[in-house]
Amino acid sequence: MANILCIGAGHVGGPTMAVIAKNCPQHRVVVVDINEDRIAAWQSDRLPIYEPGLDEIVRHTRTENLFFSTEIDHHIAEADIIFVSVNTPTKTFGRGAGKAADLQYWEKTARQILENSTSPKIVIEKSTLPVRTAEAMERILDSNNKGLNFDVVSNPEFLAEGTAIRDMQDPDRVLIGGRETPSGRKAVQAIVDIYAQWIPRERIVTTNLWSSELSKLVANAFLAQRISSINSISALCERTEADVSEVAHAIGMDSRIGPHFLRASVGFGGSCFKKDILNLVYLCEHYGLHEVAAYWNQVVAMNEYQQARFVSNMVLSMFNTVAGKRIALLGAAFKANTNDTRESPALNICRALLEERAEVVISDPYALDNARTDLRDAANQVTFEPDPYTAAEGAHALAILTEWPRFTELDYKAIYESMIKPAFIFDGRNILDHRSLHAIGFNVYAIGRPPLTNFVANETHPNF
Ligand code: UDX
Ligand code: UDX
Repeated sequence: MANILCIGAGHVGGPTMAVIAKNCPQHRVVVVDINEDRIAAWQSDRLPIYEPGLDEIVRHTRTENLFFSTEIDHHIAEADIIFVSVNTPTKTFGRGAGKAADLQYWEKTARQILENSTSPKIVIEKSTLPVRTAEAMERILDSNNKGLNFDVVSNPEFLAEGTAIRDMQDPDRVLIGGRETPSGRKAVQAIVDIYAQWIPRERIVTTNLWSSELSKLVANAFLAQRISSINSISALCERTEADVSEVAHAIGMDSRIGPHFLRASVGFGGSCFKKDILNLVYLCEHYGLHEVAAYWNQVVAMNEYQQARFVSNMVLSMFNTVAGKRIALLGAAFKANTNDTRESPALNICRALLEERAEVVISDPYALDNARTDLRDAANQVTFEPDPYTAAEGAHALAILTEWPRFTELDYKAIYESMIKPAFIFDGRNILDHRSLHAIGFNVYAIGRPPLTNFVANETHPNF
């Protein structure tokens, strides 16, 4: 039996530990956090994050071997293996502001581990970090005069929100990086043994520490790059009457390219992609690799362009003004099946429309609470409405910003009838049936497809 501890009960720490607890009934798993409300929520019937399959696992393991607590010091002392998954946001101040990772919580946690340890421990980097952070962690932990040995291991998470439980239960691979010393190898093996309880050994990859740290940043940069690549082509499709979905399908059938992550959209969001790419950019600049930095920075720039383009397209097609017009945004979450709104394109688009003085209504099945918090500075300018039909009532336009499947099942005829005419739909996720919407009477604007409008003659393609 091992005492496993996770510091940070967030989107990563919570689901990861729930799945470890489920698959390793012989181990005791404790998740701690400085945030008391969050821990109370993990102990309650209403978990702090929405993740399909999570409730069931937590309900079951919470009575067995999974515990949530705010007593960080006490549990550090007891632990053999400590996963650290505290947040590492982009720095907002000082050197590297806007790009580098803010490692203050990380370092504070390292010192807290040191202070409260009375036995040797394996410390695992779960949070995404700049390459060579493990070195700093080792230096802090080794600065002890207690004669304790700490092994730092990197085990980056590859969970996507909305599918976190499935990704953790049946991952493409698990990556574990460690020092190539006898003690380092033993530590890596201890972590391999945990995952090997339910994951085939050939899917558990071991590397040196730095390859593991860097691979996490690179995986996210490559994934985001595919979205920015297809989004860049969507702009060209809108000008040339090619259809981006057809292009994506055609190129994705080439097995060297592959079909995944080629859905043109209003842009990528989420807590990781932008942060991790900027982190990579900062690292490249630090090492004087300016061309490499500029190359990856463009993936973020393209994402911002895609969102700005979507808003200009809305304004231009609605006769150059949205001031005073009610616009219903369907979706606040950064993607479907999550209540997470961090870096959500929906909220950026909401803010841009407010700048244009539109009257914005947002509807989302799970993410309205988070959206309300994020938009608190604009609270009196935005209406939060759980029911999409009420949101659309009296609106000039509807914009689909999150790919919730339920948005494809709405009665668009009824919605059309309740809207101001001419009624517009901007499908930022290409999930609706554009032809039938057009037949109902909507003017339909999609991503990477020519618009379908019901205006008579002389229709000019908007130039955005
Ligand atoms: C975080 C990182 O942002 C990401 O880079 C990494 O890959 C995984 O960990 P996430 O779990 O989504 O992602 O973050 P968040 O949901 O914000 O959870 C972090 C938790 O750590 C919060 O609950 C916060 O209260 C807690 N925390 C933070 C501590 O317990 N101690 C601290 O000192 C700081
Ligand atoms: C991502 C990585 O996938 C995961 O491995 C890592 O551990 C954390 O970061 P996540 O941010 O949860 O996970 O979501 P992901 O499914 O990758 O989607 C990110 C964004 O890209 C979403 O806004 C999504 O809507 C968008 N997206 C995704 C597209 O616009 N088009 C696509 O084809 C795929």
